Amino acid sequence: MTSGFSGGAASEGERALPPVTPDVDMLALRAPLAARLAKSDPAGAADFLRRFDRYAPDVLTLLAPLYGERADFAAMLGRIFETALDAYLARPADLRALDRTREAAPTWYQDNAMMGGVCYVDRFAGTLRGVQEKIDYFKELGLNYLHLMPLFRTPDGPSDGGYAVSSYREVNPVLGTMDDLRALAAALRGAGISPVLDFVFNHTARDHDWALKARAGDPEFRAYYFFYEDRAMPDAYERTLREIFPDEHPGAFTYDEELGHWVWATFHTYQWDLNYRNPAVFRQMLEELLFLANVGVEVLRLDAVAFVWKELGTNCENLPQAHAIIRAFNALVRIAAPGMVFKSEAIVHPDDVLRYFGTGAWEGRECEISYNPLLMVELWEALATGYTALLRLSMQKRFAIPANCAWINYVRSHDDIGWGFADEDCAELGIHGFYHRQYLNRFYTGQEPDSFATGYPFQFNPKNQDMRISGSTASLCGLEQALNENDAEKIELALRRILLIYGVAISMGGIPLIYLGDEIGQINDYTYQDDPARADDSRWVHRGPMDWDRALHRSDPGTVEGRLFQGFTRMIGVRKLQPAFGASASTQVLALNNGHLYAYIKAQGASRVLAVCNFSAQTQQVPAAELPGLDPGAAYTELVSGRALPGGDDLVLGPYEFAWIALAGTLT
Ligand code: GLC
Repeated sequence: MTSGFSGGAASEGERALPPVTPDVDMLALRAPLAARLAKSDPAGAADFLRRFDRYAPDVLTLLAPLYGERADFAAMLGRIFETALDAYLARPADLRALDRTREAAPTWYQDNAMMGGVCYVDRFAGTLRGVQEKIDYFKELGLNYLHLMPLFRTPDGPSDGGYAVSSYREVNPVLGTMDDLRALAAALRGAGISPVLDFVFNHTARDHDWALKARAGDPEFRAYYFFYEDRAMPDAYERTLREIFPDEHPGAFTYDEELGHWVWATFHTYQWDLNYRNPAVFRQMLEELLFLANVGVEVLRLDAVAFVWKELGTNCENLPQAHAIIRAFNALVRIAAPGMVFKSEAIVHPDDVLRYFGTGAWEGRECEISYNPLLMVELWEALATGYTALLRLSMQKRFAIPANCAWINYVRSHDDIGWGFADEDCAELGIHGFYHRQYLNRFYTGQEPDSFATGYPFQFNPKNQDMRISGSTASLCGLEQALNENDAEKIELALRRILLIYGVAISMGGIPLIYLGDEIGQINDYTYQDDPARADDSRWVHRGPMDWDRALHRSDPGTVEGRLFQGFTRMIGVRKLQPAFGASASTQVLALNNGHLYAYIKAQGASRVLAVCNFSAQTQQVPAAELPGLDPGAAYTELVSGRALPGGDDLVLGPYEFAWIALAGTLT
């Protein structure tokens, strides 16, 4: 998304929706559900009704401010609960068993054993069956969470990498069938790997069945989207909207020639925003969401959460109604499929990112998991500058989250890198956010003299000079340049950079996520330029196919692939032994005098680990006395490499080197 965000978010008080208390007889809504259960699933009735009694009042409270003024509100709510029951009745026995396991241990995703990977089905293994054949590879790497990028039916031609969904119920035929998907989900679960899929719920493809009906003039489906005959409303909205994909179309609306109407399309012209002011859209999307739950999804990635509610005069992002919708979806999942949790994809101001965990009475009850885009961009910021002040300050201020939640800590995703740190944090350090972003853009596109990166611009907007960066982890870390120059020293530095930033993601606390291919150092792939459906989108440069020939070298530490793969598996192995690396452990980010170092102490019970990371290309040292918990006289062993750290006055770290040190009392 856009890189720069200035100004913190409004306080909870300013954002609260006025409470609405419509006259709804919940017992009258419960009775037909209980009757259906008694008839068709008496054995499952108790679980459903217990959950209904616990969460249905939340659904009422959350949806009342959105739809409560409508005369048909109670009937609408009744249909929503019927939808939840339909899904529950269709839920396979093994997933119901999973529901009970998860209810007994609801914060399973906080475990230090959690380790994630993400890939495109076609690029990684061709088809869903191909992915199933790679389960041993996932196990070898230590994964127990696998995010498969969008895999449902999409339009022919451009589809935003699958984020234009033509049907939530049909797998893209190139990848396989629904049965293949169910089989894969079961096989992953059997191997102890949680399946993760996207729920693209802000928009559908222009050729989704609902959009086709709307285009044919069906009023029921016209009301699913936003159509305008002239520019009056689009102009009024656009006064306060930011542009998301300005390269593709300016503003947030597209003119549909066939219809002769303007249509709301925040992203691409072929991705039409859904209108959640229409409660039928909420109910229908609940049905789609629960359908995915019943396929066996354990973590549902809620795509583009910030955009789902529009309000004239606002930027139509992060509105309280959007939060209410997600919270209501979550409460309904707790009723019908509690084995599944939500992951938020909010690439917005860091204050707003946090709000998707839920706030106030809803703390921890909106999305249990969220991407941590701030850590991601600040790792890249620290690598470029060689200084950790911004990373340190932001993590001191912003790493804490509700007790039952977890960050997804990642380094690269399929998307661009937009410099979404807070201008306020920059200002505290005397950094000018705008110019700093300009510098980082120049650095990562190789325009600074000391740049090691081979990155590419994404969505340059001449109006505000905003730009984001594409490029694979390895290429942005300097591996591509170093390999081209065949320079062994530079290759070594690039490998260290990759392991350094992934090391932070793996040890900071949360679920680390590997963009698969990074573990063998895949560099940029330029073949997308030959494909007209992709050539305009530089993000494809870092979405190249998995190079299985290179992966064959992963056990050979004398190769680039082996150095990385072995480095990853060692870090992951250490992580799995230390409860301190789990999401519920405490985090203390240290204020060291040396500005090139980033250090933190993670602690959970008897497990306490100090991590010290050198973000510069020079050797750095820190007085042991500055490192709390470290006994200057004692010798330590670095947990990942096993190298001895001689006791002495200083801890010394080579270029881009890091040390994880178990503190006294820790079991190793
Ligand atoms: C999310 C996806 C991105 C996509 C957008 C629109 O941000 O990560 O790839 O373009 O949503 O669906």
